[in-house]
Amino acid sequence: MKGSRIVAITAYDYPTARIVDEAGVDVILVGDSLAMVVLGYPSTLNATLDDMVRHTAAVARAVRRAHLVADMPFGSYEPSPSKAVESAVNLVRAGAEAVKLEGGSEYADRIREIVKAGVPVMGHIGLTPQRHLRLGGYRPRGRRLGEAREILLDAEAVEQAGAYSVVLEFVAEETAELVTRRLSIPTICIGSGRKCDGQILVFHDVVGLSDHPPPFAKMYVNVRSILLDAVKKYAEEVRKGVFPSEEHVVHAKEDVSRA
Ligand code: KIV
Repeated sequence: MKGSRIVAITAYDYPTARIVDEAGVDVILVGDSLAMVVLGYPSTLNATLDDMVRHTAAVARAVRRAHLVADMPFGSYEPSPSKAVESAVNLVRAGAEAVKLEGGSEYADRIREIVKAGVPVMGHIGLTPQRHLRLGGYRPRGRRLGEAREILLDAEAVEQAGAYSVVLEFVAEETAELVTRRLSIPTICIGSGRKCDGQILVFHDVVGLSDHPPPFAKMYVNVRSILLDAVKKYAEEVRKGVFPSEEHVVHAKEDVSRA
């Protein structure tokens, strides 16, 4: 799909995976953003391999046509290449068709080993949220020459290690364009402009369910306010004795007052 406009989005559970699959997206990512948008943690560092396996399995049960990728969480690939393969195998057994891991040249050996084991790998460079403590936050990357060079080197290392695609997160549009032109694998961008081979967004940002959506995300519907209204209405109807009404009631078939 190099050169085409790949549509990717995250999903973490059965009902939302059914929706995004039916909408016709190309790629569904069970992202470690799960930790923040579903589990309420302050960063992605809290997602565990068990969390990712459970949610990947739920999404896999829903998906009929999209390509399913699962994130390798913090701590599941850093210790060694063999640990990385073991974690990737767990995600594939849960239903993933590929895994994504954060990092460039420093983790190229992990990518190589996972690919050697038969599991396709999507890279993730630029802003890598699992390293936000070391990077000193979530600022955009690749706006200056030095950092643009580093990102390009990371992209080439990821491709040479055998990755079949790479996510570029929060990278200057010009740098993302350069990387996209230089690589033969597709680039999938989030907050990295218009010149990539595809785009990815977090489902909860798209539908208005995130507490703190990033500045580059676009909200297409405010589902939070729709859900809030629905639950408020339910509470009001219960309190007023309006719900349940006759249509929601089952009646006894005999005189049960004699029971
Ligand atoms: O975890 C995630 O949702 C991601 C996307 C932001 C690419 O890695």
